[in-house]
Amino acid sequence: MKDVVILTGAGQIGMAIARRISMGKKLVVGDKSHANGEAITKIMNEAGFDAVFVECDLSSRESILNLIAEAQKYGEIAHLINAAGVSPSQAPIETILKVDLYGTAVLLEEVGKVIKEGGTGVTISSQSGHRMPALGAQIDEQLATTPTEELLSLEVLQPENIRDTLHAYQLAKRCNVKRVMYEAVRWGERKARVNSISPGIIVTPLAIDEFNGPRGDFYMNMFAKCPAGRPGTADEVASLAELVMDSRGAFITGSDFLIDGGATASYFYGPLKPQ
Ligand SMILES: NC(=O)c1ccc[n+]([C@@H]2O[C@H](COP(=O)([O-])OP(=O)(O)OC[C@H]3O[C@@H](n4cnc5c(N)ncnc54)[C@H](O)[C@@H]3O)[C@@H](O)[C@H]2O)c1
Repeated sequence: MKDVVILTGAGQIGMAIARRISMGKKLVVGDKSHANGEAITKIMNEAGFDAVFVECDLSSRESILNLIAEAQKYGEIAHLINAAGVSPSQAPIETILKVDLYGTAVLLEEVGKVIKEGGTGVTISSQSGHRMPALGAQIDEQLATTPTEELLSLEVLQPENIRDTLHAYQLAKRCNVKRVMYEAVRWGERKARVNSISPGIIVTPLAIDEFNGPRGDFYMNMFAKCPAGRPGTADEVASLAELVMDSRGAFITGSDFLIDGGATASYFYGPLKPQ
């Protein structure tokens, strides 16, 4: 038996993080897309890792429980990397809420029940959630603590209160950050830690869909005018994740880390500020 790393979302960010923390462990790759899951699993196996693909739809509790059960066949779950998600240009509002908001909450809840003592998890949120104004203490608490099966019934998440897919994505990502705080307390009972990372624009297939989507100019302008002057790479996100997930991060839990080349700073106090 080996320690197991669960990776949900066989994308560039997820793979980059998995490469940092999966040596000598079993990597169980869960993705809804067979093509993506099998491709990343093959790359990892050909690079000396020990990976297996399991089909998993993050929007389904049953599918998440199946992924966990499959993973446990190889050993105890020591790490969770949740990098599955859909972006505002890829899916309708309902799917964004079901995958990015509900699915992430269920995954953190279910893995939190079985994570190995001393284990760590990270979920990928987004800078996008940092641009939305504060929602207030009451809604924050609802997003953090509402039982998972009741989450999508919250008033703030009803269709009449959501402007468009970008707004749905921002709400989902804000919820991820709040949920991580709530779950960090429960994971802590198992001496495990969980955090979120909120990347800015990172060049991946998901971001390339955004560049070519209806908000393409907005995204290009965003990285041109941020202090870094460029988009980021999955490897830069992985460097942060590695710090947060290994023993150097032992005092870090329930936190969110913005890694966006300064785009959020510029949005509030610089040239990216909306006129
Ligand atoms: N790329 C960026 O600029 C950026 C910025 C901020 C946040 N993020 C977040 O990072 C995460 C990973 O994104 P990425 O850029 O690596 O994208 P990616 O497109 O490379 O990977 C995302 C993966 O998630 C999978 N997926 C989608 N729906 C799923 C579902 N229902 N169940 C299981 N898997 C599903 C896709 O098949 C894909 O393999 C997402 O949560 C995204 O919101 C990305």
